[in-house]
Amino acid sequence: MKLSPNLTDAATEDALAVVDDLDLDGVIATNTSTDRPTSLRGEAANEEGGLSGKPIEEKATSMVRFVAERTDKPVVGVGGISDAEGAYEKIRNGASVVQLYTGLVYEGPAIARDINRGLLELLERDGFDSVEDAVGVDL
Ligand SMILES: Cc1cc2nc3c(=O)[nH]c(=O)nc-3n(C[C@H](O)[C@H](O)[C@H](O)COP(=O)(O)O)c2cc1C
Repeated sequence: MKLSPNLTDAATEDALAVVDDLDLDGVIATNTSTDRPTSLRGEAANEEGGLSGKPIEEKATSMVRFVAERTDKPVVGVGGISDAEGAYEKIRNGASVVQLYTGLVYEGPAIARDINRGLLELLERDGFDSVEDAVGVDL
């Protein structure tokens, strides 16, 4: 099940109950946002539609965290990831898999290689043998 970052805490908990009831395989947090943070600049700032990328990164990470604290299902962390640090942040907050979309637009396909290489360094720096060992360590 893929969640909107605009869900309230109560609605997110309801969604997680459905994930359990239907024995779904995992939770993806998050989709794009309908919010328009005041930090947005430029003439498109008030356009309607799904906002993605950096402006939703923090919100998406807090949703990953909220979900990971409430389910044993795998959590896919997505929202604003554009480098290894961003991927690592999602992992440490409970994501066992990460996804990105907008980062590809800005960085190109080499972003996957760069993130993988960067992740190896971050894991080694912090004494983890694998991504799995870092999943949820900040919860
Ligand atoms: C142009 C565009 C199209 C998208 N289409 C879909 C879609 O069809 N299904 C879906 O679940 N998410 C869709 N998404 C959401 C992304 O998969 C992702 O959850 C969201 O953009 C946040 O990640 P990002 O900041 O890395 O882009 C789309 C996002 C964008 C920007």
